[in-house]
Amino acid sequence: MIKNSTSHYGSVSRALHWTIAVLIIIALALGLIGDNIERSADSAEFLQRLYSVHKTIGVTVLFLAIIRVVWAISQPKPAALHPDRTLETLAAETVHWALYAAMFVMPLSGWIMHAAETGFAPILWPFGQNLPFVPKSETVAHSAGFIHMLASYVLYASLAAHIMGALKHAIIDRDATLARMAHGKSAEPASGAKPAGWIHTVSAAATLAVFAAIIAIPFVTAKETSVAPAPVASAETAGEWQVQSGAIEFTVIQMGAEVTGQLPDWTASIDYDPTTGEGQTEVIIDTSTLSLGSVTDQAKGAEFFDTSNYQTAVFTADISRVDGTTHVANGTLTLVGETVPVELVFDLTVDGDQAQMTGSASLDRRDFGMGAGYTDEGTVGFAVIVDVTVTATR
Ligand code: HEM
Ligand code: HEM
Repeated sequence: MIKNSTSHYGSVSRALHWTIAVLIIIALALGLIGDNIERSADSAEFLQRLYSVHKTIGVTVLFLAIIRVVWAISQPKPAALHPDRTLETLAAETVHWALYAAMFVMPLSGWIMHAAETGFAPILWPFGQNLPFVPKSETVAHSAGFIHMLASYVLYASLAAHIMGALKHAIIDRDATLARMAHGKSAEPASGAKPAGWIHTVSAAATLAVFAAIIAIPFVTAKETSVAPAPVASAETAGEWQVQSGAIEFTVIQMGAEVTGQLPDWTASIDYDPTTGEGQTEVIIDTSTLSLGSVTDQAKGAEFFDTSNYQTAVFTADISRVDGTTHVANGTLTLVGETVPVELVFDLTVDGDQAQMTGSASLDRRDFGMGAGYTDEGTVGFAVIVDVTVTATR
């Protein structure tokens, strides 16, 4: 029978229960494995696949959970077989509520975390990666990730209790609780009694309280770590021109998708004569404050910017006008101990004492020995495009 009755679970309820059970257990296992694998060049591709599958399974759970709830609301629920055992019934009901809540909170928090960060392991489906109303923000990603982690603890505990309860019914009580869910056996409490009405209310309220706390904790403890490029208030300037504002961004292709990072902390000295179109510049960048979406830590790590050993990058160049507003800064960039020739082509407009430049340079990470373990472009592309905008006055 497709539908439930007060004594048995119909085939739709059972199919949904076991499909979601298998998917959730796989998602949990993959999340756990991913969490325990060290991030390195060797593991990057494996981790990307693992998280893509993890996320895809999680999103599937969310859609199945919606169908399951709609179905459950329309169906009678077979009553607990021992309604007289108040504490046991209360525990079982609370765990059922917690599992229902986890079916939504886990995938939703995961998806919000994914949508708020840039880069890393796409969901394997054609309907896009982002969610409406979820901005790209490290704070949002971090809070959602925290909820994801806390809710996973509740899920472990409730799942363990749920499975142990099912086994206890099968092995110790030798009743039909498991058989009802396993193959649709029909069974009702011998006494014909029903669990006390308050059990429903108390178990639902307890679950609600736990999940409300899980969702509230990250908001109470959140620290603002937005990735928006900071104004260059720290840019101490010398030379003829003083930097008023600007941004240095860099873009790499990671797992086939463009990811843009920021280098918010830098100072620039600029000497430039608009009549001759000649000048010099020196830009000193603090790489320890860089951000690169969800892979900021990897980018700062020993294989890439190695910020614990090399905190500054220096670009020195001679500026010359090519044609009209087009200029070129020809010089060298010293980064992670390597000095490499770099040409930055930029557009410069000078209006009285106000100058505005936008330009970009293309680097090859291998010239700096960055990501030596990532020998092909599958995980991280070789090219790094650096985009610079500066507004300066004299
Ligand atoms: C090996 C794993 C599992 C076993 C042996 C198992 C067993 C059972 C059994 C025997 C019942 C019927 C309980 C009753 O009639 O009172 C049940 C119900 C239920 N199970 Fe599981 N389960 C497992 C995994 C899961 C997972 C992973 C979830 C969800 C995330 C889950 C969610 C539920 C819920 C919400 C109910 C209440 C009935 C309903 O509304 O569908 N179960 N399970
Ligand atoms: C049934 C649903 C899901 C379950 C049971 C689940 C479970 C887990 C677990 C146990 C972890 C490791 C602990 C942690 O770091 O939080 C994890 C990590 C993660 N999950 Fe899920 N997840 C689910 C759905 C999703 C979805 C739908 C997405 C994204 C679309 C997602 C994205 C992630 C990410 C990105 C991590 C790594 C977090 C980090 O290391 O910072 N998860 N998940």
